Amino acid sequence: MMRKKTYSPRYWEILEKRKNLPVWLQKQEFLQTFKQNQMVLLVGETGSGKTTQIPQFVLEAVLNENPSPNCKKWLVGCTQPRRVAATSVSRRVAEEMDVEIGEEVGYTVRFEDCSSPQTVLKYLTDGMLLREAMADPLLQRYKAIILDEAHERTLATDLLFGLLKKVLTNRPDLKLVVMSATLETDRFRKYFSDAPLIKVPGRLHPVEILYTLEPEMDYLEAAISTVIQIHTCEPPGDILVFLTGEEEIEDACSRIARKLGDQVLVLPLYSTLPPAVQQKIFEPTPKPAVRKIVVSTNIAETSLTIDGVVYVVDPGFSKQKIYEPKTCVESLLVSPISQASADQRAGRAGRTQPGKCFRLYTEKSFNDLKQTPPEILRSNLANTVLTLKKLGVNDLVTFDFMEPPAPATLAGALADLFHLGALDDEVNLTKTGEMMSEVPLDPQMAKMLMVSSQYNCSNEILSLSAMLSVPNCFIRPRGEASKAANEAKSRFAHIDGDHLTLLNVYHAFLQNNQDPNWCYENFINYKAMKSAVSVREQLVRIMKRFQMKLCSTGFDSRDYYVNIKKALLAGYFMQVARLEKTTGHYLTVKDTNNQLVHLHPSNCLDHKPEWIVYKDYVKTSRNFIRTVTHIRGEWLVEVAPDYYNLAKFPKCEVNKKRKR
Ligand code: CDP
Ligand code: MG
Repeated sequence: MMRKKTYSPRYWEILEKRKNLPVWLQKQEFLQTFKQNQMVLLVGETGSGKTTQIPQFVLEAVLNENPSPNCKKWLVGCTQPRRVAATSVSRRVAEEMDVEIGEEVGYTVRFEDCSSPQTVLKYLTDGMLLREAMADPLLQRYKAIILDEAHERTLATDLLFGLLKKVLTNRPDLKLVVMSATLETDRFRKYFSDAPLIKVPGRLHPVEILYTLEPEMDYLEAAISTVIQIHTCEPPGDILVFLTGEEEIEDACSRIARKLGDQVLVLPLYSTLPPAVQQKIFEPTPKPAVRKIVVSTNIAETSLTIDGVVYVVDPGFSKQKIYEPKTCVESLLVSPISQASADQRAGRAGRTQPGKCFRLYTEKSFNDLKQTPPEILRSNLANTVLTLKKLGVNDLVTFDFMEPPAPATLAGALADLFHLGALDDEVNLTKTGEMMSEVPLDPQMAKMLMVSSQYNCSNEILSLSAMLSVPNCFIRPRGEASKAANEAKSRFAHIDGDHLTLLNVYHAFLQNNQDPNWCYENFINYKAMKSAVSVREQLVRIMKRFQMKLCSTGFDSRDYYVNIKKALLAGYFMQVARLEKTTGHYLTVKDTNNQLVHLHPSNCLDHKPEWIVYKDYVKTSRNFIRTVTHIRGEWLVEVAPDYYNLAKFPKCEVNKKRKR
């Protein structure tokens, strides 16, 4: 099945390169250990070939032991915490194996499955493997599973650790490889105490670390001027700059490009970038540019290795999820990275020759950097609890967590699920809860979808959920075009807020026959819209499986928007804020403890309604709520009578107000 008669010249060319990767030196050792053990730990420097090569070694071993290819009903799976890594690495591996992506080698990420019955090696996000485990608790389709980037300690990977430990005892024929960059080895060894450890030494060149003498006031400015300085003063070699998010990265890219012109090729790298654009970072720099400058999020820290980088610019920040159990608020906050991350970033400069890392902070600040706790200790766990319940883990306290979450966080998650009607008084999954767990959306959105037929607007809620699940559809160019873009956006704006605005965009896209030119003219992201259409189709299939009605309120009806907003509220009733007339500020209500919040500048409201429901809580210099919609206070009691039970409601101003 795998053996082709002839390989392309490209295959042989890549094979020579592959054989130079450090993991190839230990191929026999790996295969031997893999054969003799059910579980193997592999630790190796980033770029040593773990992600691209080890799954191929595993495949080779599994094929050797299962020589009858005709009755193949199995897979080798390799998890990645990031969607980008899963798609880009699988493409690379398909190329290395001289096959078409989606055939023998494929990938599965949320809302996108590029695999077929032929697939024997599949890259998938850790979250997707968890989803598969819901339907197939013993993961019977797999002969071997590789948990990659284990050091990242994402929530889903942490759950897979505990889950797979258990599955292995019930599936003696299943093999597990846990791979990690050189971080936190001790904790892994202790947790997987039976597994042998293989260490792959890196082949890193020395990297000179330079610190600033004074703390930088504005890391973005500092990063840009450092890049320009490197380009003017340093010998050839590509530059990798770490920034925190899409907007910052695009901003930096256009400013660097404007300053340095076509002497350099400036490329952004972040997760919502289309795959073709991402792929550019691996291609040779086209003339006349003499230097490639990649401005990236954390993706380039360990998930994607870019060869040829000689200079790293590290401002010392990344966007990190934080969770405050007291206010039940989970948000993304630009925070200082850990020492381990800083060292990983520096290491990116020494892949092909000695390099330099410019840390835009002082040596003292480096010494003060703290470890970043694993995601499970920084998250709202409602989704996690729902997943575990569905996986049959009833007693969350006895689950074999590598690091158990705080009891208060677990309790908060249970409370949220209870309010959403996903759990009953005995803390068992309700029918609604079962369905919610099977929808690949967060619990609030899943609930909104589940009740949408009752509000006679499931068609519209499906479109809205799809729009909320894809990257931002509004293109926001810099400079002169920004005015035109704002005007275009305002043509879609709905006076009641962002959710209905998104719905307007979706409907307009369909009315214009999904025309890319229409998108271009209206500053709408065509790719995002196409994926919204595809996501919607997938959600429709789920709705049909649950035999839910696809219905709409007539557009002429006064209730058309009312129903949509009520369904929205039925999912997001725990995320409501009210305007304090005296101060003109919004305060969140109930469990979120009356936090002072500001409307995110991206909102399309033209007034400040008294009550609003919001989707995200974003922390930057201030607390923002983003994606907001005007609702009516009296709907709260109607839509969520238990949560907004007047009798149980604390005697506060909100209460008095609402009683009126
Ligand atoms: O997982 P690990 O960091 O150990 O290494 P890897 O991702 O397997 O990368 C091994 C090599 O493959 C590196 O030299 C990458 O630059 C290269 N690679 C590539 O050329 N194109 C990709 N899409 C991914 C990796
Ligand atoms: Mg890797």
